[in-house]
Amino acid sequence: MDERKKTIILGIETSCDETAAAVVADGREVISNVIYTQIPTHTLYGGVVPEIASREHVLKINQVIKKALEDAKMTWDDIDAVAVTYGPGLVGPLLIGVSTAKALAYAKGIPLVGVNHIEGHISANYLVDSESIGTVLSDSPSEQVSEEPSQFEPYMCLVASGGHSHIVRVDDYTKYTIIGRTHDDAAGEAFDKVARALGLGYPGGPKVDKLAREGNPGAISFPRATVGDSPYDFSFSGIKSAVLNYLNGAEMKGQEVNKADVAASFQQAVVDVLCDHTIKAAIDNNVKSVALAGGVAANSLLRDTMKERAEASGLTFRCPKLIYCTDNGAMIAAAGYHEFVEGRRADLYLNAIPNLKIGM
Ligand code: KG4
Ligand code: ZN
Repeated sequence: MDERKKTIILGIETSCDETAAAVVADGREVISNVIYTQIPTHTLYGGVVPEIASREHVLKINQVIKKALEDAKMTWDDIDAVAVTYGPGLVGPLLIGVSTAKALAYAKGIPLVGVNHIEGHISANYLVDSESIGTVLSDSPSEQVSEEPSQFEPYMCLVASGGHSHIVRVDDYTKYTIIGRTHDDAAGEAFDKVARALGLGYPGGPKVDKLAREGNPGAISFPRATVGDSPYDFSFSGIKSAVLNYLNGAEMKGQEVNKADVAASFQQAVVDVLCDHTIKAAIDNNVKSVALAGGVAANSLLRDTMKERAEASGLTFRCPKLIYCTDNGAMIAAAGYHEFVEGRRADLYLNAIPNLKIGM
């Protein structure tokens, strides 16, 4: 039996519209995970209003952190370090998390670790719930491994969220190389804009996902763009415009639009490109597996298609449980743990960096 005391990290996330805190042991076992989502507030405006997001974070952050400790049945004495997202994201929201984490680390005399939000999303792949350790997670198409392999196997991770679309080679827990990136819109942004054009509201991704299940993905041929000479980069502004043109054209001709077909055809085109580029990147880089991360990783077609195509190419596949795809504190605690064991510490001058790059 392992008698070593586990390292307990409290993770704090406030980079956008979720106020979140979680307690995670050894960068893996989620002991508590509290998410206060501001989605109902921002829905009134059709998107995130940064000033309102900041105010909501201020109002909720202390409660969310207190509940994360209570749910974990822990006190501050049990916490080895506080990990906080310091970028990329919205500056006001980021500052609420960063200043709260600094105040807590100072007052409680515990170390502080700054975490890159994208690296947090990637690290969600290491998380398991305490009740599902040793079992297969039910709502994930992947068979999430209960034990981390003793030796790190590099893998290719597609990070697709509202603000980012990257293909990242993960060489170790804290070593990342960007292989592909979007030249314009992020994949989640395209989902959100198409959803708005279809009158589905905010946030669009889950609504397009749901409506697409009733549509025919082959009904309309939307472009699957490649960019310049990079086979791993993305461009989603073209497909977004193609959907808007299709809708405007139909309206001008007075034609009825089958919204489910539009949603399904758009989603299929985006998923095809995301999967093709990621799998090509994995094969060309000689890694043995692919993973998903970020809010768009919650998309059911993307999860199913990536698993299918990866396995058909002899690659293994993993993706986080749904709740750890969108923003949460557990992924920040997981990434923070690996920074912490490598001895990286932030001081009380830690600042929010809205355009923080991966691997800094
Ligand atoms: O990672 P996340 O919570 O926040 C950012 O870091 O941006 O990602 C939010 C994004 C939104 O654009 C949302 O529409 C998208 O993820 N999303 C989805 C799904 N669930 C969330 N996109 C497609 N299908 C989904 N099921
Ligand atoms: Zn995110």
